[in-house]
Parts: sequence; C-alpha cells; structure tokens
Amino acid sequence: MINPPRTTASSPSDPTVAFGDAPGALPLLGHLPYLAARPLAFLDSLPAHGDVVRVRMGTRTLHVVHEPALVRRILTDRHDFDRGGVLYDKIRAVLGNGLATCPHAEHRRQRRALQPAFRQALMARYATTMAAETEALTARWRPGDTVDLTRETFRLTTAVAVRTLFSAGISDRAAEHLRTALEVLLPGVYTRVVAPVVDHVPSPARRRYRRALAVWRTGVADIVAAYRATGTDHEDALSLLLAARDADGRPLTDADLCDQVATLVLAGAETTSSTIAWALRLLADDPDASARLHAEVDAVLDGRTADHTDLATLPFTTDVVREVLRLYPPAWSVTRTAVRDTTLAGRPLPAGSTVMCCLYLVHRRADLFHDPARFAPDRWTTGLVPRDAYVPFGLGATRCIGDVFGMTEAVLALATLAARWHLTPVSTRPPRPAPRIVLSPGPLPMRLAPRRHGSAPPS
Ligand code: HEM
Repeated sequence: MINPPRTTASSPSDPTVAFGDAPGALPLLGHLPYLAARPLAFLDSLPAHGDVVRVRMGTRTLHVVHEPALVRRILTDRHDFDRGGVLYDKIRAVLGNGLATCPHAEHRRQRRALQPAFRQALMARYATTMAAETEALTARWRPGDTVDLTRETFRLTTAVAVRTLFSAGISDRAAEHLRTALEVLLPGVYTRVVAPVVDHVPSPARRRYRRALAVWRTGVADIVAAYRATGTDHEDALSLLLAARDADGRPLTDADLCDQVATLVLAGAETTSSTIAWALRLLADDPDASARLHAEVDAVLDGRTADHTDLATLPFTTDVVREVLRLYPPAWSVTRTAVRDTTLAGRPLPAGSTVMCCLYLVHRRADLFHDPARFAPDRWTTGLVPRDAYVPFGLGATRCIGDVFGMTEAVLALATLAARWHLTPVSTRPPRPAPRIVLSPGPLPMRLAPRRHGSAPPS
C-alpha cells in the first residue's frame, strides 16, 4: 500500500498564507499514485504543507487551496479565473457546454435562462415529486433485505430529476427508461473523463454506455417533440431550455437540449444522493444523533411521508444534512484556471495555472472547526461554525443553482427513510469514500429493518 508522504517542505513568505509543495512526487507520475491509492489520506496530509499546496498530477502542477479567503477570491474573481482544469474540460468534451460546465463567457446567459426553474415558488411542487419518489423507493424495500444504499439513493435522485426537469406528459414507463439510462450514462461520463481511451476500445461496457446514450437522446427528443407540439410552458427546466436562445439568437438543437439536461442531472443527482447516503451511514454509527433524529421525525411526521410543509419543523434533520455537507462535501473540489498572469496571496501565478479549491479541506481546518473530523450535528446549534468557511454549494456567480432543491430533497428523504427504516451496515469496515466528480461513500451494503414509531434499533 502506498502511504502519503510525511515530510514538510513549506516555505511561507506571506505571513498569513503558507505555501508549500507536497513532497514525494514520483518521476512522470507526480502524486497521482497517492491520489489513486488513498485519495482522502493524501488530501488529509496536505494542510501540513501549507494553505496553498502544489501537487503534481503527472507532469502538471495543481495548486490545492484550502484557505477560506483565498477560496472566496478564486471563485468570485471572474477576471483572473475561469472554469477550467482537466475535469471541466473533459466533461465538456463528453457533454458539451451545460450550465454547470460552461466558461464564464457563456455563463450569464445560461444561468438567466435556467434560474426561473429553481425559484422558491416551485419548490413545493418539486417536493411533492420528491415525497412520491421516496415513497416508491421504500415501497420496494423488504424487511431483512440488504441494499446498497449508495445505489438506492442514486436511484431516488435520478428519478426525482427526470420527474422534475420534464414535469409534464411523461409516462411512468418513459420516466423509468430515462432513469435507467442515466444510471449507466452518468458513471460512464466519469469513466470517459478519467480514461477517454475507453471510447476507442470495443467492450460490453462501451456498448452499454452507447445504448444508454441512445435511449437518453431518443427519450429526451420524444419529450421535446411533445413539448414543442403543445407549446405549453410547463414552468420546468425543459420548457425554459426550449425558450432559451444561444448567443446568435438561435434556439438550442435537440442534441444541445439533451446535453443541457444531462449536465443538470450530472450536477444534481449524485451530489444529493451521496448526501442522503452519507447521512444514513454516519447515523448508523452514532446512536445519540440517531435517537434525536428519530424523536424529531416521529413527532413531526407521525407516520406520514415528509413534505414541503415539514421543512421548518425538522431542524435537527436539517443540521444532520448540514453536517454531512461539511464533512463530506459532495463537490469536494472546484477547479479554476488562471486566464491571465495573476497572483495568489501575493505570489505570481502564471496564466494557464490550475487551482483546486478543496472544499473538503476548507471544512476540516483545525484552526476553524472544533474537532473537525467528528460528525457533530450539534455544532450547528452551538454557534461553532465559521460560516465563511462553510461553502458546500460554492460561491459567487456559479454558486449552486440547485442548493435549495438539493437541501429540500436531502432533508425530506432523510426524514422519511429514517422514520420508516433502521439501516444497519452489513460490514463494520468504515466506508471507503471515493472522490470522483462527487465525493461518494462508495458501496454501502445496509440491512433493512422496519421501524415503528419510537422503536429502538434492532440489537
Ligand atoms: C447537496 C447537493 C448539492 C451540492 C453539494 C452542490 C454543489 C455545487 C457546487 C459546489 C457548485 C459550484 C460549482 C462551480 O462553481 O463551478 C454547484 C453548481 C451547480 N449545481 Fe449544484 N450541488 C448540489 C445539488 C444540485 C442540484 C439538486 C442541482 C440541480 C437540480 C444542481 C445543479 C447545479 C448547477 C446547474 C450548477 C452550476 C451553476 C452555475 O454555474 O451557475 N446542484 N453545485
């Protein structure tokens, strides 16, 4: 096993921001083997070398930043920094320029076009879909079964995405078809981001991916045709995208529409599903927090499925979600490219440099968070959270457009699932988080036992 290097090589010249180099870079590979073998341990080792740590990804240098004020500057300074870095570039190569990936030059127009689909007034309608899909999920669960919670929650959030982005005229069968395609498509996008070569080598996985892409494109094209035929504004993302115009005043093509919607799902589905899965997994190891959550959901829901009107009366459930987003922020890293020569805390940063704002490390700074590695939902009521250093939804003009949507879905799903089921990890081994595009908990086999009001976990 490869252990992260331990020696420190930092040489701070700025009194407030320490710069350093991650030691132990290997010829040609740099630090990639550490990242591949034990990604979180490698990330955890970086703060010892500074607030800005130069890491070698192969032959490229990446500046990993975890000082909150610097992160703020990088994410809000649109003159010096733009969306870029290998991840964004490669997602664009696979899915085109959607809102979540487009460079700043296109961003304002795309954001304006889609913003109305995320307005507060629509959240109650979306919450009804979230509640119905959570019901459908638990209706399939059987006492004594073992499920992979990570897969199950992903199933939930992709179903919600399909049902909310195209809210009208889509049959259950068509929705399920699209959802199943997404289950292959979204992980497939990630595979193509890290290993583009897979698209050039015939394999069953490539066939599955291509079939899923075809199902997605045909399915969305059918829905688009139906929307166009009626001309009705359904006040959902697809209606808005149909009304949108590109920089030359032209409507989006069907292929662009498919990619735009896929990018939205890519940004919203696994981020939210990982949050729900992490929450239930962390609660399984924390009997006190679990008991408090159960007391709250029992009192508020009284056996019902959680809906939009319950949000205000689920403060502890909300704090659990906030704490999960602190410890395991799904968007654990947000990268930017310097578009011209600039400086980073007073030091020169040449145009073309890539900086990675590591939200995972910002949220775990020992100088800002008490006992940072501990899951402690209580810290949210005791005022122990430095709000400037809590940025799970990013900052500035590209701050998450789906923040309220994602929080609503996570809180409501967590409340309903925790009220109805005890989930016990099958293995005592801690989860092995996988920081891919999203910081996923990896497979989480959990045994299901039904809960009744006030019942304690099975012994
Ligand atoms: C817990 C759930 C979520 C987390 C932690 C999260 C996190 C983030 C972060 C950090 C960004 C900023 C990226 C950047 O600056 O480059 C972002 C952007 C974005 N998110 Fe989310 N997200 C979540 C849920 C959602 C949902 C549910 C949707 C859609 C339904 C969504 C859609 C987007 C889009 C479209 C962007 C790009 C916004 C823009 O550039 O204007 N996200 N998200």
